[in-house]
Amino acid sequence: MCGIAGCIGTEAALPFLINGLKKLEYRGYDSAGIAVYDNGNIIVRRKVGKISELEKAIAGETINGTYGIAHTRWATHGAPSDRNSHPHRNDDGHFAVVHNGIIENYLDLKKELMEKGHVFSSETDTEVLPNLLADCYEGDLLQAVWKAEKRLRGSYAAVFMTEKEPGVLVAIRKDSPLIVGYGKNGNYLASDIPALIGYVDQYIVLKNDESAVLTKDSITVYQNGEKVEPEVLPLTMDIAAAEKGGYDHFMLKEIHEQPRALRDCLSGRITPNEPMVNLGELKLDREKMASINKIMMVACGTAYHACFVGKYIYEKILRIPVEVDIASEFRYRDPIVDEHTLTIVVSQSGETADTLAALAEAKKKGSHILAITNVWESSIAREADDVIYTRAGLEIAVASTKAYSTQLLSIYLLGFYMAEICGKMERNEIKQYLDELYRLPEKVQEILDRDPDAIKVLGETVAESENAFFIGRGLDYVVALEGALKLKEISYIHAEAYAAGELKHGTLALIVDQVPVICLCTQRDVEEKMISNMVEVKTRDAKVLTFVFEGDNHGEKVSDTVIKLPNTYDLLSPILTVIPLQLIAYYASVKRGADVDQPRNLAKSVTVE
Ligand code: F6R
Repeated sequence: MCGIAGCIGTEAALPFLINGLKKLEYRGYDSAGIAVYDNGNIIVRRKVGKISELEKAIAGETINGTYGIAHTRWATHGAPSDRNSHPHRNDDGHFAVVHNGIIENYLDLKKELMEKGHVFSSETDTEVLPNLLADCYEGDLLQAVWKAEKRLRGSYAAVFMTEKEPGVLVAIRKDSPLIVGYGKNGNYLASDIPALIGYVDQYIVLKNDESAVLTKDSITVYQNGEKVEPEVLPLTMDIAAAEKGGYDHFMLKEIHEQPRALRDCLSGRITPNEPMVNLGELKLDREKMASINKIMMVACGTAYHACFVGKYIYEKILRIPVEVDIASEFRYRDPIVDEHTLTIVVSQSGETADTLAALAEAKKKGSHILAITNVWESSIAREADDVIYTRAGLEIAVASTKAYSTQLLSIYLLGFYMAEICGKMERNEIKQYLDELYRLPEKVQEILDRDPDAIKVLGETVAESENAFFIGRGLDYVVALEGALKLKEISYIHAEAYAAGELKHGTLALIVDQVPVICLCTQRDVEEKMISNMVEVKTRDAKVLTFVFEGDNHGEKVSDTVIKLPNTYDLLSPILTVIPLQLIAYYASVKRGADVDQPRNLAKSVTVE
């Protein structure tokens, strides 16, 4: 969704602002803009469309100012247009602001400001901010921002500047991420780390209700009007993390990074030949675990699909009932959650507004909250009682791949950790699973290396169809859900996943000549049933594309194509079966000429409810 970049230093600000915006492109946006203080004036340039349009608009201009703010907008209030793009200025142009989030009471504020004579030129909620600020300004920008902030309801990360007080940026944050950082040529800020890589050595994640004042020489952080000593973290990510590294797309790079990401996720958490998972940092101890009679797993999109794997695993090995819910539904249905419920929230970004709201709801009801997230110090990480970091590394493609597989791995680690502590499994059995988890990164590598062309052909075959179906039973079914989502979001092919046994209760009506049906057939206890379901679709002339484990020849007679995957325990199969499904979606998208990394209408980090 929207992105913010800003800097104040000794060199021209424009190159950083444009570069910073480009590094935030992956979040999804429909327009972009910059504001730079230059020779006593704030110069604002805004353009609907890609950042290249903004670059064209300012090409040939000399903008040498050394501080400014920039924004990529993902429209919520007001259509994508030049006029609605950020930065927004107040009516006399002296104050400028960029803003992520939503000002919920903007209509009331707008009415009040208009009655006072302020003139508005956009349909956005954001435009109330510079006008309110102008109204509150009495010679001190920080004081004016604080005074204005008291009037706001909603979520925001916002940065303000004014011609009346050159050399100062003021930033505020509530429920929308904002990071400030120290660099060699000044100080920087951004809504997300990638914009800062290469410029910043150390950074501070602003906490909710904190504000920061940036000058070229200093960063000062405040909470409730008082200065605070923030935690300063080193920025160790190198520029390669935010580049494609020779791949055509970030998604393909990230699919190929999975063996490394899975190894990082395991690192220090399991040791070969040890029957124990080391998650000793968790506050979820034996006593707490003993009091749990239900697990609630809540997330959105791909992370929600990871939760389904959790349900199958935890119910099997822990024998505790698990409920899975979509975060945007959870908080509005008065869920049955109490101090005996363990709530697990899963989120790559750690900033998804719906998941954050669900977390707050479960916390209010007394539940212990465990977050599985990829982003260090994200809002969800901070609000949770316990965190397992997935360590996938920076994920830039909108379609989640390595974040999902490391979410699964984290779910397994937690499951075996709890099984050991609660005595739910024999230690020897746990050891066998952990040894196999240790081997999985290698097996993922094998899938990626073995015969990439075969999967490419499948993707290209699927690309020819307007519909596709994914079927499976048990854990194969829940991975099928993720396969269908991947295909939909990046290739725009209508795709559905079904529990294979459910087909005959309606969906078989949709199975027509040559429609691709991707069959996952790795769950040995339901293999025969699954083969019967494949026969059902084959009989209706579907194109049957099947994935099985090595050594299994059952699917061959009823499939058009069979691809064999390295063998593993049925229980651990999702980490392997999802890999070819990600690749099918990728190659289908490429074949259709779609925008793989930034699919239409989607954003990487969904920070509005
Ligand atoms: C799909 C995808 C989304 C996200 C969802 C939740 O590929 O990435 O469905 O999974 O928006 O985002 P996070 O995990 O950041 O909470």
